Amino acid sequence: MLIRVLGSAAGGGFPQWNCGCPNCRGLREGTISAVSRTQESVAISADGDDWFLLNASPDIHRQIESFPRLHPRGPRHSPIRGILLSNGDLDHCLGLLLLREFHPLIVYATDHVRRGFVEDNVLYRTLQRFPEQATWRILKLGREEELVGEGGHPSGLSVEAVPVPGKLPVHLEGWTPADPEQNVGFRIRERGTGRALTYLPAVGQVTPAVRQALDGADCVFLDGTFWSSDELSALKLVNKRAEEMAHLPVSGGTGSLAALAGLPARRRILIHINNTNPLLREDSPERRAVTAAGWEAAHDGMEMEL
Ligand code: MLT
Ligand code: MN
Ligand code: ZN
Repeated sequence: MLIRVLGSAAGGGFPQWNCGCPNCRGLREGTISAVSRTQESVAISADGDDWFLLNASPDIHRQIESFPRLHPRGPRHSPIRGILLSNGDLDHCLGLLLLREFHPLIVYATDHVRRGFVEDNVLYRTLQRFPEQATWRILKLGREEELVGEGGHPSGLSVEAVPVPGKLPVHLEGWTPADPEQNVGFRIRERGTGRALTYLPAVGQVTPAVRQALDGADCVFLDGTFWSSDELSALKLVNKRAEEMAHLPVSGGTGSLAALAGLPARRRILIHINNTNPLLREDSPERRAVTAAGWEAAHDGMEMEL
């Protein structure tokens, strides 16, 4: 399985347009050792020809241009065979609306995520300009599904959606009831080799279902949004703890690194990293702690073959 990180930052990217935190300021001024990042999305492929995107970020145009394997191979063509949505947050979905140029799209998501995106959303009409412009393939929790491109073309990859503690997208709070389908992770399996990738960009808590999804994975992508619970409040940016935003912090006795110590996956990678997270600084003690624990920080353009 080929994997390419298209974007590695949380919503807003790094730097974020209205943020003057030490990281964003330092990046703009060139005074810290860090690189900019676009919003989280990962491309995967079994054969290098047909690709699937994990989430559709608002930076999708730049991200496609940044990776020649996603470029058209004919006057009207895209090697992107399908797009998987892990939840309905704008940083995961907005990219769909930006792919409105008369191209059939196949979208894999739970029915809850689909409804949150298509219902009461007049902008969705831009993806209904011809029949079958958008085809939704509904993921049921815990059921393995083959990823199939347009025209029934098999991809060699299968996916299982795993329920993960998360939250409703901000725009659906108070609008629709919470549901276990609102936030999922993906367990992707390559049929030929049996290699497995577990993709969990938003994790509020490490539950038995989360552990099961990680079990036996060759490569793991995990929620790396916040270093600590009080990261945003300490910077006087937002008066909310990481846990209230359904992101388990990386550090601390109950953080994700401690909870998942000893995870045997060959590659363990933090993704969806918020602009405030000190691990973004390559020479920080926090980054050293991540590395010492056997984890990596995702960066845009990171590639691997499983
Ligand atoms: C999140 O990851 O928590 C969301 O992207 C936040 C948001 O939608 O503003
Ligand atoms: Mn997000
Ligand atoms: Zn910032």
